[in-house]
Amino acid sequence: MDVILVGLPGSGKSAVGRRLAHRHGATFVDLDDAIETAAGRTVPEIFAERGEPAFRALEREAIAGLGPADPGAPVRRVVATGGGAVVNPRNRWQLYRGRLPIWLDARPEVLAQRLRRSPNVRPLIAGRDPMGTIRGLAHDRERFYAAAHRLNGAAELSTLVERVDELLARADARTSTTLLRGTSLDGQLVIGEGIAAEAIGTALRAARARRAILVSEPGAWEAAGAAIGAALVDDGWPVERILLPQGESAKRMSVIEEAARQLAALRAERGEPLVAIGGGALGDAAGFLAASWLRGVPLIQVPTTLVAQIDSSIGGKTGVDLPEGKNLVGAFHPPAAIVIDIALLRSLPERQRRAALGEAVKMAALGDEALFALLEADGEAVARGDVAAFDSGAVGEIVERTAWAKVEVVEADEHEQAAAAGRIRLNLGHSLGHAVEAAGGFGELLHGEAVAYGLRGAVRLGQALEVTPPKLATRVEALLTSLGLATTPLPYRLPAVLEALAADKKHADGSLRWVLPSAEGPVVRSDVPPELVERVAASLLAGSEAAA
Ligand SMILES: NC(=O)c1ccc[n+]([C@@H]2O[C@H](COP(=O)([O-])OP(=O)(O)OC[C@H]3O[C@@H](n4cnc5c(N)ncnc54)[C@H](O)[C@@H]3O)[C@@H](O)[C@H]2O)c1
Ligand SMILES: [Zn+2]
Repeated sequence: MDVILVGLPGSGKSAVGRRLAHRHGATFVDLDDAIETAAGRTVPEIFAERGEPAFRALEREAIAGLGPADPGAPVRRVVATGGGAVVNPRNRWQLYRGRLPIWLDARPEVLAQRLRRSPNVRPLIAGRDPMGTIRGLAHDRERFYAAAHRLNGAAELSTLVERVDELLARADARTSTTLLRGTSLDGQLVIGEGIAAEAIGTALRAARARRAILVSEPGAWEAAGAAIGAALVDDGWPVERILLPQGESAKRMSVIEEAARQLAALRAERGEPLVAIGGGALGDAAGFLAASWLRGVPLIQVPTTLVAQIDSSIGGKTGVDLPEGKNLVGAFHPPAAIVIDIALLRSLPERQRRAALGEAVKMAALGDEALFALLEADGEAVARGDVAAFDSGAVGEIVERTAWAKVEVVEADEHEQAAAAGRIRLNLGHSLGHAVEAAGGFGELLHGEAVAYGLRGAVRLGQALEVTPPKLATRVEALLTSLGLATTPLPYRLPAVLEALAADKKHADGSLRWVLPSAEGPVVRSDVPPELVERVAASLLAGSEAAA
């Protein structure tokens, strides 16, 4: 077993690491030292001469150099990491998976004081306002450190060493990896592999629940819910189960009524959380149930599809459909906790994983360069569900980057009131996307597949309006093509697509607001000429290419 120490500069990783290694007869590895030896320069010199990106590249190599994790009980290595190493999701995956990660947490005041006394100056802390810098770093990195086991870094060395031993005693049985622990709209958000039951237990305890009321549907229950329920029972939780219909048919008023009556039969009380286990349709319906039962009870979202993990479980939108349209009745009801377990994606049909990447491409096109590059490199393997894509951390990284990008957008604009900068940007690709989805009767294209067509439409519109740089438009289309998304013209009639657009327009106060990518991020335009919309819509349809 390797012990990995993470935390801000000054948190005592080297001192604690040396002591731990000595106690266990293990090797102590200081990653920064390893980098300095490899580069023949000090860390400040590398920063000054080659810049931070070069340092991060060396850091990735040093982490890869650790090799595979050793699952045996004896501690073989204690590794102190540089403070910023865990910002990169792939580094974190490598460092945390199969090892025992420990976060030495300490208040910024303590860190600043220690650093003032330290002989070697850290490049990122060397500026004029070290306290401000430390606070900033603490805020930006907390969700990465918090995925590790938290210990108070200000405690005595001997106490810390004892605490680590206690964790080690429990560590050999652990097969789960927590990748990130943050907050979204004040609820906890956890991402990891094999974490579902444990993290649900934590969320239930935080809500002072006396039992676990699981809301699921037959497909998600078989793929994920049954095992989670059994693990909760093993942990001593009384478990109740309510099954809604599978797929979009969960999102009906009559289903909510029926489920609410089951809650009445269970005498579910105010404050008792509901645990939604399933994809986006289940989550929307169970979320609406939680929003309206007794005027609102806590909701724990356990998304089991890629759509739900990167999109629908985040942001607090819940609701059901009417014959007149999708999502017409609903409520904002942010979850108390979101538990994202990427292991659940292994059983997902390939078509669903691939379609969900349409939404990931959208987030990238909104201006996330790291996500863009990641999808270009690993998107296809993730879509296929390659074992290697799970093991390398590619799936985890795509889920984390996309989910967190959505967290940041909704945090800035919870109730969808801001203009260009706000939540409306998430509608990129959705005007034409909805229109083609509707033209197919909502049964032919998966939502993400429709969004992929919508994204092609948006960058074509944007380019024609000279909003989207041609290079960006080409890059978005090439990425969609490489992911096998929106590659064939659709067999729908243009008037059907335009009619659906007009219906959306009616719900949007008479004018469609087009979100278009630009070099500086998304812009919103309501003045797109109808002839242009028509021409671009036609370019997505079979037999209409001539019109484009
Ligand atoms: N609230 C929001 O912000 C938001 C955002 C995007 C989409 N949505 C909604 O999400 C829905 C689409 O999401 P979805 O595709 O996840 O829907 P879904 O819940 O219908 O799941 C799709 C299918 O996958 C199956 N499934 C679930 N988990 C599985 C697993 N781990 N392994 C194998 N199969 C599994 C389900 O049984 C179902 O048949 C739509 O209703 C859409 O409106 C909501
Ligand atoms: Zn969408």
